[in-house]
Amino acid sequence: MTARGSRSAHRAAQADAFDRIGERYDEAFPYKGGQIASAEWVLRKLRPGARVLDVGCGTGLPTARQFVDAGCHVTGIDISPVMLELADKHVPEADLRRVDVVDLDATLGRFDAVVAYFSLSMLPRGEIMSALLKLHELLVPGGWLAVGMVEMDVDDVLIQVLGAPVRMTGYPRCSLRAVVEEAGFSVREQMDLAYVPANDGDPLEMQIFLNCRRNTF
Ligand SMILES: C[S@@+](CC[C@H](N)C(=O)[O-])C[C@H]1O[C@@H](n2cnc3c(N)ncnc32)[C@H](O)[C@@H]1O
Repeated sequence: MTARGSRSAHRAAQADAFDRIGERYDEAFPYKGGQIASAEWVLRKLRPGARVLDVGCGTGLPTARQFVDAGCHVTGIDISPVMLELADKHVPEADLRRVDVVDLDATLGRFDAVVAYFSLSMLPRGEIMSALLKLHELLVPGGWLAVGMVEMDVDDVLIQVLGAPVRMTGYPRCSLRAVVEEAGFSVREQMDLAYVPANDGDPLEMQIFLNCRRNTF
């Protein structure tokens, strides 16, 4: 299979998994304090009417809703049609599009801020750097980026999420920071938070949030 063919098979499987998970997603992952705090940090940097891109917007909750409620113009992208339908119900004011993060281009215009909470984790490591470089291009000089990922030292491994097979990638926290810095961002704030899952027996995880500024070069 060609690299493009294997990428499209990878994405079709990921989209299918999130289509299956979609209706149960918010109930299964109810604790979003770190993500909300990270988005608040970004909001403090923005002027009214700022343009914000939510990468892998999922159901639109809480993040796209949070930015719209604060007066931002939000574009949300996702590869799962079910997630996008849910986002449309929760955040009808947002411009929602079925776009893969690695296919983003200048047609969407430039953004004052980009947030990617637990969506870059859905790419193999080899594609995370190209995605970050795309986000760098789409941000205005000095624009803001927030990334959230679960701390894990794995590359594109298959795990079961709510009974659906999802491929996930993660980094140890220092390596994640190094990847983001290499893509042209300076990390202004890092939050490492223990996340207690909603279901007994599921493992405790560490969530890493990096609040960053785009370097001007
Ligand atoms: C773990 S969920 C996180 C959703 C939301 N950001 C949140 O924090 O609640 C990951 C989302 O990323 C989307 N996704 C996965 N791969 C993607 C890709 N290559 N481009 C855009 N979205 C993607 C999935 O469909 C899913 O909605």
